[in-house]
Amino acid sequence: MNLGSMILHKRKALGYTQQTLADKLHVSFQAVSKWENGTACPEIELLPAIAAILGTSVDALLGYRSAVVTDYEKRYQSEEYYWGIVPNSLCYEIMKLRPPVKPLKVLDMGCGEGKDAVFLAKNGYLVSAFDVSDSGLEKGKRLAEKCGTYVDFFRANILDYRLSEKFDIIFSSGVFHYITPDIRAELTENLKTHTNERGIHAINVFVEKPFIAQSPDEEVTGRYPWKSGELFMCYHDWLLRKTEEVIFDCNSGNIPHQHCMDILLAEKIK
Ligand SMILES: C[S@@+](CC[C@H](N)C(=O)[O-])C[C@H]1O[C@@H](n2cnc3c(N)ncnc32)[C@H](O)[C@@H]1O
Repeated sequence: MNLGSMILHKRKALGYTQQTLADKLHVSFQAVSKWENGTACPEIELLPAIAAILGTSVDALLGYRSAVVTDYEKRYQSEEYYWGIVPNSLCYEIMKLRPPVKPLKVLDMGCGEGKDAVFLAKNGYLVSAFDVSDSGLEKGKRLAEKCGTYVDFFRANILDYRLSEKFDIIFSSGVFHYITPDIRAELTENLKTHTNERGIHAINVFVEKPFIAQSPDEEVTGRYPWKSGELFMCYHDWLLRKTEEVIFDCNSGNIPHQHCMDILLAEKIK
């Protein structure tokens, strides 16, 4: 897609008219119309604002797709659920803290085969969930159908995807180590800004420790473990409901080894 079509596509997905987008950018609707039909291009300085309003990145607007290094696509192609279908314990903590007594919007980032997204939807939350793996998303849809519930599953890359609407709960398990250090501050700020008051972020992330050897997994490139405590610092201005660090055994690749993980449950207080 070229720049004009990207703007058109994203604008329509958000339900904005050309006039709405033009007003937000302080330009005329004719300018937006020209960008979209390819007879003119926006000024370069306008691109960050256009990307922010349309909930995307400048890279994505310009058609650059970062290479996604993940071999989960292959692992998810088998019939059985690679991660099982038992929800992560953080889902129960979310339910205790914010029971779905009213419609609460949840976003599961890097949802894999959808076990957590489906569990939350089944329990009354309005859930959207994304991953880069098409086979993971397909299995998530099948699981939701089987459980008689609905999740808005969509394909997105956590490196490019930025929120343009607000959520009540943002959940992510075992995914943040794909976020490169250079975009972490900007990305977490985007998530925090697009969270309603009293909203919850429930996130776990692999962290590095000098006394734990690097994972021998085949998939080491494209992973950027966080510094211990780094995730918690990103939420210094929220109420930290839970900050926990755990070390656990893993046998992936049939090589016994250990991982260290930081687990966060934080609440946005105005
Ligand atoms: C360890 S799995 C966790 C899956 C799921 N959250 C769970 O706990 O069952 C990591 C997931 O991150 C996804 N992933 C890797 N890179 C990603 C990216 N750049 N954007 C979105 N998802 C990504 C993988 O496809 C995989 O499903």
